[in-house]
Amino acid sequence: MPVHTISLAELGEALKTASEGSERIHEWCKELERGGILYFPETPVPIPHQDLGFLLSVQQSGSRMHKNIAYKPDRDLLSGADRGSAGTAELKQMHGTMRRYSAAVDAFLGRFLEPYARRWQLDYASFRPIEEEGRNLPLRRRNDLLHTDAFPTRPTRGRRILRFFHNIHPTRTRDWVVGEPFGRVVGRFAPNKLPIPRPDGVVKGAGKLAARAIGLGMLMPQLKRTPYDEFMMQMHNAMKEDSEFQLGCAREKVQFAPGSSWMVYTETVPHAVLAGKFALEQTFLVDAKAMVLPESAPLKILEAMAGTRLV
Ligand code: SIN
Ligand code: FE
Repeated sequence: MPVHTISLAELGEALKTASEGSERIHEWCKELERGGILYFPETPVPIPHQDLGFLLSVQQSGSRMHKNIAYKPDRDLLSGADRGSAGTAELKQMHGTMRRYSAAVDAFLGRFLEPYARRWQLDYASFRPIEEEGRNLPLRRRNDLLHTDAFPTRPTRGRRILRFFHNIHPTRTRDWVVGEPFGRVVGRFAPNKLPIPRPDGVVKGAGKLAARAIGLGMLMPQLKRTPYDEFMMQMHNAMKEDSEFQLGCAREKVQFAPGSSWMVYTETVPHAVLAGKFALEQTFLVDAKAMVLPESAPLKILEAMAGTRLV
C-alpha cells in the first residue's frame, strides 16, 4: 500500500517528543523516498478562512483567472492569472493568498522534514482551479495519464521533486492513480527502449532529438539539462505514450478527501489525476544527498544502471 496516513494527533506527537518523534519522522521520510505517499486526512497547513473563500470563488464569480496559477517565491511573482479580465484587486488578493500559502508550507516542512535540514530549493506553488475530468490537452501535457514528473525548462540536476498538495474543494475528493516507483518501472523503458544519455554529451543511440536538446543546453547554461534531466524528460514522455503501460501496469486508485493534504516524490512515483477541482500545491527540489535513503533517488538508480555519473 503506497499511502501512509498520518493523523494530526500522530503528527503532533512526533513533533513534540524529541528522540522518539525524530525516529518516527525518519521512518516517514523513508516511506516517502521509497515511493510512498504521506497522507494527512486533515491538512496540517490550514488556509486562512478568507483566503479559502477567495480561492473557491475564483470561477463562481465569473472571473477568468481560470488557468493553473503559479507563484514563484524566489521572485515573489504571480503568473498564469488572466490580467485582461481579472481586476487589480483580485490579482492582488491572489498574489497575497499564494504568497501566504507558499510560506506556510515551507514553514511546516522546515519543521516536519527535519532530517533534510532545509537542503532544498523552494520551487513554484500552484493553484489548480480547473476540473480535471475530461480536460482536453495534448498527450504530453495530459495529467490523467500515468507519468513521473520532469520539467522541460527547469532541469533539477538530480534533485528530487517533492510536492505538497491540498484538496481545498469543500465536498469532492481528488482522484489519483499511482503506479510502482521509478526503481520498479524504469527497466521497462531503459536501456533498451530509452537509452541513458552519456555524460560526455555523446548520446548513444538516443537519436537526434536528444542530442540536439543537450547541445542546446550547452548554449544556454541556465537551461542546461544534464544527462539525468534528459533521461527523466524522455521517461515522462515515454510513459504517457506507452498505452500498454497505461493499461497494464500495477496501479492503485487513491482518493484524497476534501480538506486533506498529501506529499509525494513525483519524479519517483508514476501518478495521474482523474478527477477533482481546486487544489493547491507547493514544489520543493530536494538535494539527493539529503535523503535518509540516498540509494532510493532516481539519480542513484540510473547511475547504477549506466555505470557512470549523470550530473
Ligand atoms: C500532476 O502532477 O500530474 C497533477 C496532480 C494534480 O494536480 O493533482
Ligand atoms: Fe505530474
